[in-house]
Amino acid sequence: MNKNILVISAVAVAFMLVGCTSGGHSPYESEIKVKLSRMSLEQKAGQMVQINIDVLLDPQTGELDADKLDYVIGQYKVGSILNVNVSGPTAEWMGGVISAIQEKSLEACGVPCVYGLDMIHGATYLDGGTFFPQEVNIAATFDPVHARNMATVMAYETRSMQVPWVFSPVMDLGRDPRWPRQWESWGEDPWLQTVMSETAVRASQGDDFNRIGQENVAVSVKHYMGYGVPASGKDRTPAYIPDYELRERYFRPFRACIEAGALTLMVNSASINGIPVHASHKLLTEWVKEELDWDGMIVTDWADIDNLWNAYFVASDRKEALAAGINAGVDMIMDPYHPEVARDICELVREGRISRERLDDAVARILRLKYRLGLFDNPIWKRDYPKVNCPEFEQMALAAAVESEVLLKNDGILPLNPDTRILVTGPNGNSVRSLSGGWSNTWQGTCDPHYVGRFNTIFEAVRNEFPRTVFVPGVCYDEEGQWWEEKDIDISAAVSAAGNVDVILACIGENSYCETPGNLNDLTLSRNQIELVEALASTGKPLVLILNEGRPRVISQIEPLSNAVVDIMLPSNYGADALALLLRGKENFSGKLPFTYPKYPNSLHTYDYKVCENRSTMDGAYNYDAVMDVQWPFGAGLSYTTFKYSDFSVTPEEFDADDTIEVSLTVENTGEREGRESVIVYSSDLLATMIPDVRRVRAFTKINLKPGEKRPVRLEIPARELAFASDDGRWHLEEGDFRISALDCNKTIHCSSTSIFR
Ligand code: BGC
Repeated sequence: MNKNILVISAVAVAFMLVGCTSGGHSPYESEIKVKLSRMSLEQKAGQMVQINIDVLLDPQTGELDADKLDYVIGQYKVGSILNVNVSGPTAEWMGGVISAIQEKSLEACGVPCVYGLDMIHGATYLDGGTFFPQEVNIAATFDPVHARNMATVMAYETRSMQVPWVFSPVMDLGRDPRWPRQWESWGEDPWLQTVMSETAVRASQGDDFNRIGQENVAVSVKHYMGYGVPASGKDRTPAYIPDYELRERYFRPFRACIEAGALTLMVNSASINGIPVHASHKLLTEWVKEELDWDGMIVTDWADIDNLWNAYFVASDRKEALAAGINAGVDMIMDPYHPEVARDICELVREGRISRERLDDAVARILRLKYRLGLFDNPIWKRDYPKVNCPEFEQMALAAAVESEVLLKNDGILPLNPDTRILVTGPNGNSVRSLSGGWSNTWQGTCDPHYVGRFNTIFEAVRNEFPRTVFVPGVCYDEEGQWWEEKDIDISAAVSAAGNVDVILACIGENSYCETPGNLNDLTLSRNQIELVEALASTGKPLVLILNEGRPRVISQIEPLSNAVVDIMLPSNYGADALALLLRGKENFSGKLPFTYPKYPNSLHTYDYKVCENRSTMDGAYNYDAVMDVQWPFGAGLSYTTFKYSDFSVTPEEFDADDTIEVSLTVENTGEREGRESVIVYSSDLLATMIPDVRRVRAFTKINLKPGEKRPVRLEIPARELAFASDDGRWHLEEGDFRISALDCNKTIHCSSTSIFR
């Protein structure tokens, strides 16, 4: 390869980055300076602590306890509170609690408290909040409009609770289906992740991150970073990720969100390459705060400073752990049950183990957030939020669900005629809990009886469209037990019910779970459910598998027995209605898998594997072939219509790092139904000094086409996006050929000079 190296000035690139981050240019710097000069050490230390709400509540009544408030805020000056203590509190209740907290905070140190909540797929901790499909579903729509709608509605409804700060969007690339949080994020691809997260950040925070409006909230992009690929597949266990991979796949989406103005960031609870991320000066201070010139605030995840000493053994006690985290770059400590951490911080500063400068920097970042949120002027806001859970919001959630459910197989049995006699069976057939997943009213998504009946289960929604529908579960989840426990196994009841119907909908998958409790030992679908499907298939009745699960459970044993497969993942409260409309053909499928669906538990791949991972038989005595065999690839997803791509062109044919590559094509709906198509453009670097990825998503868009309609599509890719990151911390765009492709079209273009940049 002819190396004609052009090193783009680091200064020029740094300027580009600063231009759009929140870096150092807030209008509140003089106020912050004055505040800091008037605050005592105790008041500053308290600002850096975040406590769980139940520390302030009377355990009997669940109401605020004045003595506890006095202890936490009066004595320790704690500056932030998180969480809810009941499933889905009302906006009025939260408003009352937060008013009292604000009164106490202003009295204790003249600084308002900032309250934060996990609003993961809508305002899912608000009684009556609008639940959107989980992020993995929104990713499957391949249309950022749904990420925007979800974030806009979530922000509005969250503000109705007097809460100005959320711990979302979740940005953990879902590259390992064993990990129990895959569904919380936008799938396995860094570019899809970048577009969806950035859209969510902008919609949540509004147009001006220096003045967050009263219908917007500050975000906490999380969990920074590499959290989703632990070597063991178990939550909160170590990951081993080379620096080039970190920068290229994991840091890239966070960088985009920081550049879009994300005001806070939450840290990965686990470790990378042997260093807990909470103690990594390199990742917290150098990569984010310094490289991106970012003036936002870093909050720990749950009790993670404690983990540094009592789980990871990189510190001997809490004080040493605090010093390690704060000196690495942590600004706020989520230590849910220990307000006394504020006293430890004071001691560390007095002992010189945390400098006054670091203390003031951390507190300035917290004050800046509070100013940007308008909390000094309006510690609470007196206004109405009449649109909470209005029909318009519900329609948005339903539309997102419709576009997120993925048709993976169809021998022609779908759509179904309204007279069809249907058996809905399987443990997911009559449950709202399993449709929503975790972070739904409660952490684990376990259903509060209060909510049962408010939304349709699959059985109820299907019966609305197909009156001749019956439900016989065959297998049930044990709602009192662990999420994976099953009970009331009566496969023969389901089999005999199948005798009287035309089609079987086997609703299988997982019950809801969240975080570490969702760990599992075998990615294969449960044995009871496999046996249920096998027995149903033996009846000879047409069989449709409906997969309702947070991660792709292996179904290779039963997939061949089915006539159709729909992966609805976690579409939440309107997901069953969406499914019924799709099965009926009133809506058309347009979702595409945002992850690779594995065929075997020991063969876990992502679509952007290294070229050497898939090669044919070798000559000679030994065969070192490499086989890529998946159930369904990333981007899989059928429709009731068909699309044809033509007139594919890519310009310029010769390019360098400063060019923008333009891809244009015509898409035609060649079938008989209206449909939506996501056009996904990939690039492949054909020869490079590091093993190239087989392909990478570089751009996508979604269009609607009537039968027979043709539309031109044009997408742009900044040539720099084709670069790969290297261990030198820089991006390399190397001279040579690149193939640009979309569906069955492709074209090779040539990069005429190598560029290396930051
Ligand atoms: C989770 C975070 C969450 C935090 C606060 C942790 O256990 O990892 O995602 O924001 O709890 O609820």
